[in-house]
Amino acid sequence: MAKIFVTRALPGTGVEQLRAAGHEVVVSTKNGQLTKAELHEMVRDQSFEGLVTLLSDAVDNELLALMPELKVVANYAVGYNNIAIDLAADKGIIVTNTPGVLTDTVAEFTIALMLSVVKRIPEADRFTRAGQYDGWAPELLLGSDLKGKTLGILGAGRIGQAVAQRAHFGFGMHVIYSDMQPSGELEKTIPCQYFTETDSVLAEADVVSIHVPLVPATTHLINAERLAHMKPTAYLINTSRGPVIDEVALVAALQSGVIKGAGLDVYEQEPLLTPGLAELESVVLTPHSASASEETRAKMSEMVADNLIAYFSGVVPPNVVLPA
Ligand code: GLV
Ligand code: GLV
Repeated sequence: MAKIFVTRALPGTGVEQLRAAGHEVVVSTKNGQLTKAELHEMVRDQSFEGLVTLLSDAVDNELLALMPELKVVANYAVGYNNIAIDLAADKGIIVTNTPGVLTDTVAEFTIALMLSVVKRIPEADRFTRAGQYDGWAPELLLGSDLKGKTLGILGAGRIGQAVAQRAHFGFGMHVIYSDMQPSGELEKTIPCQYFTETDSVLAEADVVSIHVPLVPATTHLINAERLAHMKPTAYLINTSRGPVIDEVALVAALQSGVIKGAGLDVYEQEPLLTPGLAELESVVLTPHSASASEETRAKMSEMVADNLIAYFSGVVPPNVVLPA
């Protein structure tokens, strides 16, 4: 039996599963995200051996110093850039995530965001609700088509591939992508072209969709210079992590017409938005909700529980990201 802290109430049966397996589970009772100071207070001197974190909880040196008994961190997310992986590794702490279950959900959302921007759906909704619709017009709210256009995927992992397949089969888009190496997998499912250089994808794509993890090499991968390589008619979609884009540069690029539009689910300083972003009609903004389906969020909580239960029964958890 282990003592486990969960930083926020989760949907699904994860906590029940942990308790049924005999673990002592403490769930934050705050109706909201714990601040750093609150999180530190909750774990101090509690001898927790397991920790369930959200992508907004920083698992850093300070937190680890307060949790000397900690053995395993189960992140309720596929991305784990909130966890100081090297520090955890030094301390022999196991880190797990929730890959796979959210792939289709995030891919569907990415396509929804793409369509929303390209077809100007939220803008049209605002227009209609505001009572501005005074009759059909040949040039009212013209958007673009996806058929025959080129989708550029940055990062062809599970989610990038799932988006590429939907774009190919669903909309007849050409797919090009960049990654550290050719996927091998994607080529087996759809015709696509690999580029070593991100810039080559940016220069050719009509829609660019980002699916890289946030690591030092991908921080500000999209900056002013890279945005300038994109077509003025191109759209940028990001459902990965905010800091992959230099958001100040993106706002400037959208304001001056360097690119046509953007669909963003993630932000550089979440939950804050760079000034100017929310005023732009050419962007569609969602609150980091790409994996937010009832089914997926429930499955993610089951996976968190499966990972912890495996670890504390001496079995290698199914979704270990550390040790790699
Ligand atoms: C969501 O952003 C996740 O990484 O699970
Ligand atoms: C995450 O699931 C990814 O590999 O894209």
